[in-house]
This record gives sequence, structure tokens and C-alpha cells, in this order.
Amino acid sequence: MTEAAGRTKSGIIVDGLSVAFHLPKGDVRALDGVSAHFPDGEITGIIGESGCGKSVLGLAILGLLPSYASAEGTIMLEGQPLEPGTARRRLGRELGLIPQNPSESLNPSRTVKAHIQEALLPLKLSGKERRERARELLSAFGFPDPDPILRAYPHELSGGMQQRVLCAVGAACSPRWILADEPTKGLDKELRAQVQETLLSLRGQGVRSMVVITHDLLLARGLCRRIAVMYGGQILETGPRVLDHPLHPYSRAFLAALPENGFQSIPGTAPGAGERFSGCPFAPRCELAKARCRRERPAAYRPEPERVVRCFEYE
Ligand SMILES: Nc1ncnc2c1ncn2[C@@H]1O[C@H](COP(=O)(O)OP(=O)(O)OP(=O)(O)O)[C@@H](O)[C@H]1O
Ligand code: SF4
Ligand SMILES: [Mg+2]
Repeated sequence: MTEAAGRTKSGIIVDGLSVAFHLPKGDVRALDGVSAHFPDGEITGIIGESGCGKSVLGLAILGLLPSYASAEGTIMLEGQPLEPGTARRRLGRELGLIPQNPSESLNPSRTVKAHIQEALLPLKLSGKERRERARELLSAFGFPDPDPILRAYPHELSGGMQQRVLCAVGAACSPRWILADEPTKGLDKELRAQVQETLLSLRGQGVRSMVVITHDLLLARGLCRRIAVMYGGQILETGPRVLDHPLHPYSRAFLAALPENGFQSIPGTAPGAGERFSGCPFAPRCELAKARCRRERPAAYRPEPERVVRCFEYE
């Protein structure tokens, strides 16, 4: 039985998930046997370098991969298989998405009201109830006077305001789960703090659990009790306290490379798009690598409660 399959059935369980994009120039394998548990009632952060597969994992969970992608492996939600069609049908009501990049995700020719009302459609409310719910959502996300915001077009709002509108759209039907992809990307410090508050306040809107993909470690620290570290299309470490006490050699190197930790660069180069590894994906760059690391894939070891580390050092 694999890492995720033997655990409690609450939450989202991803087991052996591989995703490939079939492009004219050849196949690109974006995920390579990802197994992870996102527990119910928790906010889990996903961190890792650009191109490691964070967004593809989020899109695969929500059933939103493009038609030229194929996936193997299983995704379970509360003990039931979550097929792409089922996930798409549950979008909005049970699974909410706060997508990367507000300016691309909001339609420039539609008002905020049109965006929110469309998001509310699954609730089958009357016109009056929809208007009230739209106002209520905007006030909950920091717009004390919602009417001018409802009439506004996206370009009339600042980046932070657009992000809060996207949060309102994602939370419109009070889904139990929210997946937020880089919710603070491109925002200044003050707006990042605002978005963190907004995401925390989602919990008062009926949202129980979140997966937050982010490069913003301040946000990850402020929001997420658990962290998953991705590299080369795999999750190499998950658990609480990963940011303060990383165990996997890649997690340690990734955190030491951050400006606030002294910019110690990781030797070697990051994996190329779709690069495959027969052993540990970090072996070409790992100071502790042994011959076995290059030919065998490490299992999921549990050196501490709730911590899963894929490295032979913890066997
Ligand atoms: N629609 C797509 N078509 C083809 N390849 C894709 C597509 N989306 C992602 N990929 C490839 O899959 C891999 C993982 O991409 P992904 O977008 O998940 O990275 P990421 O970790 O989210 O990076 P970033 O931090 O820059 O957002 C990359 O090699 C990327 O080029
Ligand atoms: S399995 Fe081997 S190569 Fe991979 S991180 Fe651990 S020691 Fe390094
Ligand atoms: Mg991404």
C-alpha cells in the first residue's frame, strides 16, 4: 500500500499521480508519481521552484487539465474517487479555485457584479438573494461599500482589490475546499498581508480546507500549518514545521537559497521541463547522494509524527 492510501480517508488523497502533456515536439511529463494527503480542516501550502509542477497538481485535482494532457493515478475526496468530470461538476459548490494572476482571470469586459453573479449560479438564488449575497461577499472581503465595486470593471480596481474580488468569486458558494494558486504574486507587502487576512477570513465563509500554492514564504508561514515541498514533478517532503525544520536535503537547500536565509545557491541546475529520473530527482545536485540514490526511488519515510520525507537518509 502506498503512502497516501493507508491513511485516514478525510481530505484529499493523491496517489501515484503522473501527468504528461502531449505536445507536437513530444511529451512533457509534468508530474511523476505524486502522492500526498491534504487533510480536511487544514491549510496546506505547496512550495517549490518554478516549473516543479505545483500548478499542474492543482489543476489535476480540480479536473482542469487541458485536453492534450493525460493523467494516471488516483485522486480521492473524502473517500470517493475524484474523476476530472466529477471535480468539474463540484467546482464552485464544493471545490473553489482562486486562480493565479487576477488580471488574466477576470474578464475585462464584465463587471464585478457579473463575475460574482455567475459564480453564484449553482446556488439557484432569486435575483434579490443573488444581489444580497454579492454585497455580503464583498463586505466580507474588505469592501465596506460594495455597490461601486459591483459596478466596476476589473481595470478600475487595483491589483489587491482584484485579488480580493477573485477570493469572493472563489468563495461565492462557500465551497468546503479552496485551491489558491499564487494568491499574492506581484503584490506589495501591504497587499500581501491584506490577501493573507482575506484568505484567513474565508474560513468564516464556510471554507474548511485550503491548498495554497505559493512562492511567498511569509504567506506560507502565516497561513499554513502544513507544507508540501515539490521538486521535479514529485513531492519530496510534507508535514508541519517544514519551513523551520526542513528534513529533506532539497527542502534544506531550497530554504537556504532564499534571500532572507543568505542566498546560498543550490549546486547544479534545476530539472528541465519533463525530465525523468529513475532514482531520487534531487540526486544530481545532492551532496549526500550515493549510487543507490541515482537508481532507486526513495519510499515515503516518517521520521517524525505527520512528517513524510522521501530520502534514503531517513530509511
Ligand atoms: N498547459 C501546458 N502545456 C504544456 N506544458 C505545460 C503546461 N502547463 C505546465 N506545463 C509544464 O509542466 C511543468 C510544470 O508546470 P507548472 O505550471 O505546474 O509549474 P509551477 O511549479 O506551477 O511553476 P511556477 O512556480 O512558475 O508557477 C513545466 O515543465 C511546464 O512547462
Ligand atoms: S535520496 Fe539520496 S540523493 Fe535524494 S535527497 Fe536523499 S540523500 Fe540526496
Ligand atoms: Mg504555477
